[in-house]
Amino acid sequence: MLPASDCFKSIASGLQRDGYALLPNFITPLLSAELARECNAQNLASLLTPAFVGHGAQRQRADLIRGDRTHWFDPLAMSVVQAEFWDRMQALRRDINQHLLLGLETFETHYALYPPGSRYRRHRDRFRDDDLRVLSMVCYLNEGWLEHEGGALRLYLHTPQNGAPAAETFRDIFPHSGTLIVFLSAEFEHEVLPATRDRFSIAGWFSRRA
Ligand code: OGA
Ligand code: MN
Repeated sequence: MLPASDCFKSIASGLQRDGYALLPNFITPLLSAELARECNAQNLASLLTPAFVGHGAQRQRADLIRGDRTHWFDPLAMSVVQAEFWDRMQALRRDINQHLLLGLETFETHYALYPPGSRYRRHRDRFRDDDLRVLSMVCYLNEGWLEHEGGALRLYLHTPQNGAPAAETFRDIFPHSGTLIVFLSAEFEHEVLPATRDRFSIAGWFSRRA
């Protein structure tokens, strides 16, 4: 694992260059295992609830759009491992503000479990009526993930357009334990592809102040 300062430097420069940054060993295997264990325990205790998208009538259709179950971190009641992760993300937030002046003020985050076969269809992480989310992050908690098990995050990339419309490209990111992906929320459409095993992660958003 990189020391925190090098790690943050590589995230800031990735964001500046590409609008996203990928870091394979952002958290240690031990922290990842402890977070995965806690998420699994919360699931067994029925604390994870089906995620929803949109409002009102569309809420019922959420399971067709996304099949994960989530549980938000409560900053006033965090476990030791949640607090360790949270502090790391706050340090990252401050570092990004210093280097990229994004004005990130708040952070919200949840555990997510995608049961086998579930997905999150192509979307952007901004609500139509709320453009405060600036930066999205996902940290994966799956030890020994094999690529044939699926479950990639498919990030649709911008392709430079010199006259002719360029073919759309994407990058598949597999949910290996310890991997962090950070990307500009407004810029990148993305989706979660179905997997053949439970897929554990922590997803979060850094926002500007309202
Ligand atoms: C999300 C999301 C991606 C992932 O929660 O909005 O896109 O890889 N998650 O879990
Ligand atoms: Mn998303």
